[in-house]
Amino acid sequence: MADNLGLEGIVAGETAVCALEGGLHYRGYGIEDLALHASYDEVAYLLLYGDLPTRTELGEFQARLFAAAGDVHAEILAILKQLPRTVPMMDVMRTGCSLLAHWDSDVADNGREASLRKAERLLAQLPVVLAAAHRLRQDKEPVAPHQWGSLAANLLWLLERQEPNEEFVRAMDVSLILYAEHEFNASTFTARVVASTLSDLHSAVVAAISALKGPLHGGANERVLEVLQAAGGPEQAEAWIRDALARKVKIMGFGHRVYKAGDPRAVFLKPLCVKLAEQTGNQALEQTAAVMERVMSEAKKSVPPNADWPSARLYYYLGLPVELYTPLFVVSRVAGWSAHVIEQQANNRIIRPMAHYTGLPPRSWRPIAER
Ligand code: COA
Repeated sequence: MADNLGLEGIVAGETAVCALEGGLHYRGYGIEDLALHASYDEVAYLLLYGDLPTRTELGEFQARLFAAAGDVHAEILAILKQLPRTVPMMDVMRTGCSLLAHWDSDVADNGREASLRKAERLLAQLPVVLAAAHRLRQDKEPVAPHQWGSLAANLLWLLERQEPNEEFVRAMDVSLILYAEHEFNASTFTARVVASTLSDLHSAVVAAISALKGPLHGGANERVLEVLQAAGGPEQAEAWIRDALARKVKIMGFGHRVYKAGDPRAVFLKPLCVKLAEQTGNQALEQTAAVMERVMSEAKKSVPPNADWPSARLYYYLGLPVELYTPLFVVSRVAGWSAHVIEQQANNRIIRPMAHYTGLPPRSWRPIAER
């Protein structure tokens, strides 16, 4: 039974959304091709609708997203304003998603068309919630979203209220593409379990956000920055990580349940990090990361860097505050979660596995006075 701890190696269902075997593919397209050539908008469309959009389909899709981004209710922003500033941003995202549900006219409709409409609205509106909450904490007013450009460009605009440069937009696009989907990971599986009870898309996404928050899953990208900074620079990094490993500390950003020989997303992102570090004067952090990677590959062969290892650096080089890193994962992964929820709804049976009982054998009832 201990072999099944964490359901390792268990095939828990079927999906046509994403494959890991033979390289990471979204709906049949290799992620390297998508990260090189596509925009996140095209990838989100691909995940939701099953195929890449034509130019017309993409234009219409983006027009719907722009309209939805501009349609976040004032009441939601007013509630976000009242949240304590100490609330972790992932909790704000969870609350924000719940709030969006309350003002969504399709909320209880689990039909395919309604779920697609809701998924599009979440794609467009979660970035608005994130950016608004971020700005309100700094005593800045939320910014109105542009009605043009891409989701990546709009996201950077909403956060910073200045037009981002092309290279930063492309880096954000690539990171959103690589975070968008990953088969039966913990948060996606959570979303599917919720959907399987015939609950609605927003509820499934709220649950998925809760699962993603944990440091063994999406929360790792924020911890990566803490690790890199704690390591104290390229000269100290080797001693720091060897000491941590000797104390059996798990190094955030390394290891993966499925990828034992390497995470293709991390491989793809590394050169982008090197380039951005150079452009933004962050070579010391990049060198620290390189030292830590070398030591990890010597000490732990089957614990390669995962996607969070370079993603955290990439966001840092883009000048984004650490508390936004896991929420940015949400903004991207909502495409994959929604695709899985819609797939689950199309061929549903409640997900209800069994447990191996390890408790006491049956016992006789003892009245309270005798205990
Ligand atoms: N640092 C150091 N050692 C690690 C490690 C890490 N990040 N991740 C795994 N290992 C080691 C374990 O200690 C274990 O060694 P042992 O067999 O000598 O006891 C072995 O590798 C297997 O690890 P295990 O925890 O059983 O793997 P898992 O499949 O249950 O967990 C993760 C996978 C991702 C949860 C795990 O690798 C981890 O905690 N990584 C850090 C958090 C992280 O980056 N999460 C993002 C994932 S995309």
